[in-house]
Amino acid sequence: MESSPQTHLHLLLPHVLIFPIPVQGHVNSMLRLAELLCAANLRVTFLISDFALARLQAHSNAQSRLSLYPDFSFTTISDGLPADHPRAGDRAMEVVMSLRETGRAKLREIMMRLLPVTCVIGDGGYSFAADVADEFGIPFMSFRTVGTCCFWAHFCVPDIIQAGELPFNGSSDYEMDLPVTTVPGMEGFLRRRDLPGFCRTEDPSDPLLQYIQFETRQSTRAKAVILNTFEDLEGPILSQTRSQIPNLFTIGPLHSHLKARLDGAATPQSSTSFWEEDWSCMKWLDAQPPKSVLYVSFGSITVLTKDQFMEFWHGLVNSRQRFLWVIRPESVSGGGQGNIPAELLEGTRERGCMVGWAPQEAVLSHQAVGGFWTHSGWNSTMESIAAGVPMICWPYFADQMINSRFVGEVWKLGLDMKDLCDREVVEKMIRDLMEVRKEEFVESANRMAELARKAIGDGGSSFRNLDRLVEAIRSLAFRA
Ligand code: UDX
Repeated sequence: MESSPQTHLHLLLPHVLIFPIPVQGHVNSMLRLAELLCAANLRVTFLISDFALARLQAHSNAQSRLSLYPDFSFTTISDGLPADHPRAGDRAMEVVMSLRETGRAKLREIMMRLLPVTCVIGDGGYSFAADVADEFGIPFMSFRTVGTCCFWAHFCVPDIIQAGELPFNGSSDYEMDLPVTTVPGMEGFLRRRDLPGFCRTEDPSDPLLQYIQFETRQSTRAKAVILNTFEDLEGPILSQTRSQIPNLFTIGPLHSHLKARLDGAATPQSSTSFWEEDWSCMKWLDAQPPKSVLYVSFGSITVLTKDQFMEFWHGLVNSRQRFLWVIRPESVSGGGQGNIPAELLEGTRERGCMVGWAPQEAVLSHQAVGGFWTHSGWNSTMESIAAGVPMICWPYFADQMINSRFVGEVWKLGLDMKDLCDREVVEKMIRDLMEVRKEEFVESANRMAELARKAIGDGGSSFRNLDRLVEAIRSLAFRA
């Protein structure tokens, strides 16, 4: 077929291969990065697993929205798991590990097909992509989907072990509350229980602890490390991290940065969901008083036990607050809800709304939402900060433990419910956030939201860093 002039032009653009770990939280932020680079007139190929692409095609407008960019394309890779693998909940990590074990040779083949590639932007959990990029002499940049606080704590794990502060016996509250003194910048408030979830092991050779240490230290190979955060949020930890990794680009909050850059462009509301968004909850929110609703969602991986689910439900109803609760399919182990006490059904009918998956960005910016009970996933944390919504944090695993400590203890944007789960605690924390200490948290959340807006606004730190990142990629194209 005759190649058109456009094809030639297309090939002249700097070409970036973006490769996320194919789970919801990682795909969300890296798709937003992909669109920002397309909007800056770079050519982007987004490498995603067949499974994750099928979920996006079934439940989001990602494909149609990104097809508006002639220089964007998806390409797929198998994650190495059987078709009927759940790829969710407490088996989500198997997706991460399977593709890490089987992806190297496949990535090599894909890279051959995609050449010329100006640079690879890989997920910080997949340093094998840096190996393959090296084989082709292609520069590699690392994108971390977690906050700097988690990245830096992971970077310091060898020192924490050296100092004997890891491993520890996670069963005793006394040990969990012991301080961690070997993460520079976090002395004075970091306890063992606040370390990222992979540190909760008594075995220093634990595979997940080894994995995270190895991958994090590999970040020093990258030409640049890109973070979905902003200078005013994590300044002190960023300066500590820059002592080891000077070439850090903070470009977040990515979701609102994308919106700001496309301001006015007639692009549909961006959805990148792996589940069907139930927009009926927006109608329910329209009928609620301002700042009266607690939005409850624990992300795409968290699985609650039945007991936890019931304790949370009792606490929510007993708090007598209005609530919008996302109960993701298969997110409660032990199956159905069995016989539900009448007072829960009554309280939910009166003051609650339950959906399987919500349009979270739209929910957080709705005037009726006054608080967010979250698992402290990094995307949810950034979305809540950008929307100025105070949080109650109940971390499940991974980076969520340290995120919740920063929300409660450092940024004062809400309450840390870490490792607690009974209806009285739930009721009290909800009342504190939504009534008793409402003013204090609203003021603090509005202040941080303003700083987030400044960072992505013209001349802001994230705005300038994204321009610098695009220029760095362009200069690689001419050096090649
Ligand atoms: C995972 C890890 O758990 C998280 O700790 C890490 O920081 C990123 O990868 P996940 O658990 O899915 O992410 O949490 P989070 O980072 O908050 O991402 C969830 C995304 O799904 C958010 O962008 C949120 O807006 C979206 N979401 C969530 C919806 O669109 N609808 C929902 O109902 C719930």
